[in-house]
Amino acid sequence: MKTRNFLLDENKIDKKLIEEAAKLLKKGELVAFPTETVYGLGADGLNSQAVAKIFQAKSRPADNPLILHIASRKDLESLVEEIPPQAEILIEKYWPGPLTLILKKKDLVPNLVSAGLDTVAIRMPDNPIALALIEATARPLAAPSANRSGRPSPTQASHVMEDMKGRIPLILDGGPTGLGLESTVLDLSREEPLILRPGAITKEQLEGLLGGLGQEDYQDWQGQARSPGQKYRHYAPKAEMILFLGSFDKQKEAIKAQAILLAKEGKKVGIMATDEGKLSYQGLGLVRSMGSRQEKGKIGANLFKVLRAFDDDQVDIILAESVSKDHIGMAIMNRLLKAADGKTFGLEEE
Ligand code: TXA
Ligand code: MG
Repeated sequence: MKTRNFLLDENKIDKKLIEEAAKLLKKGELVAFPTETVYGLGADGLNSQAVAKIFQAKSRPADNPLILHIASRKDLESLVEEIPPQAEILIEKYWPGPLTLILKKKDLVPNLVSAGLDTVAIRMPDNPIALALIEATARPLAAPSANRSGRPSPTQASHVMEDMKGRIPLILDGGPTGLGLESTVLDLSREEPLILRPGAITKEQLEGLLGGLGQEDYQDWQGQARSPGQKYRHYAPKAEMILFLGSFDKQKEAIKAQAILLAKEGKKVGIMATDEGKLSYQGLGLVRSMGSRQEKGKIGANLFKVLRAFDDDQVDIILAESVSKDHIGMAIMNRLLKAADGKTFGLEEE
C-alpha cells in the first residue's frame, strides 16, 4: 500500500483534502491526523472492521481499548449511558483539550473499541485539522497514538511515516504537535475519580475543580491497570535506558560516572539531558537536551522526538536525567520511566 501525505495548514485548512481523507475513513480505511497532543491513527469508531485495522497496523494487543474523538459536545450523548456532574464541569473547562474521560458506554460503541470493557474513553481534541476531519466524517474517530505498538508516540508526521509507511493510505501532516504528551486519562465511571494516565491537564488542576482524587502513581506503571494500556512497555527506544533519580546534582554526578564506565566497556552512550545539565557531560557521550528545567512544557513537547533521535544515533544505552513530578512533571516522569522499562538509578528525593 502506498502511504500518501497531505500537507495542511491549520490556520487555512484545505477542505478538499479533508473531504478526501473523510472519504477514506467512511470507506473503513485508516487516516493518521494531528492533534494537540500527538498524532492519532484514526478509523471510523463505529465500524468494527475499520477499528480492527488499527490493531493490525499498530500490532496493538487486542485488550488495549481505544479513545473515541468527537468534535462537539452533543456527540457525547449517543455514546455514553450517563454524563455525571463532574464530567459536565470538566468538559466545560477543558474541552476541546488534552483530557480523556472514561464513562459508561452505550451498546452503539463496538466492543473492539472498548476491548470488552463496559466503559469508553472519549475526548475532543484541540486541533482544527482533527476537528474538521471528525466533522467531515460525521463519525467519532477511534484513534490511538499513530506509532507502532511500543514505540515512542509520534509528534510530527515524519514519525508516523517511519512507523506506518506501507500500512496506511494517508497521513495528514499538520506540523509538529504542541504538547507532545498524550492526553490525561481520567476515569469517571466509578465512585472515585482516578487519573489513569497523567498528561498536560494535571492532578493539581483537576483537584482544583473536583476536590480529592486518586492518581495511579507514575511508578505503578506496571500495576493492576484499570487502564489496560498502562501495563505494556511503552515509548520504548531501541536502546536500553536508565532514568536517574535524586537531586539534580546527584543525577549529574551519577550519569557522569556511569557514562565513563560504559564507554570503557565499549558502549555507545547517549545522554538525555536538560539545558541546565548538558554542558556537564561534554566528551562523555552523545548528548541531547529535552529542553530547560525552567520550561517543563517544552521538555514534554520534545521528549518523544529526542527518544526517536537516539534510535537514529544507534546508541547502545541512554542515561536520562529526571525532573520533579509536580504538575506536568508527573506526565514527563511517567513517560520517561516507561521508556526506561522501569530501570532507575538512585533514590527519589522526598
Ligand atoms: O492524546 C491522546 O490521548 C492520543 C491522541 C491521538 O488523542 N491518543 C492516545 O491513545 O494516546 P492511546 O490508544 O495511545 O492511549 C489510550 C489510553 C490507553 O492507555 C488505554 O488503555 C486507555 O487510554 N483507555 C482507553 N479506553 C479505556 C477504557 N475504557 N478504560 C480504561 N482505559 C482506557
Ligand atoms: Mg499510545
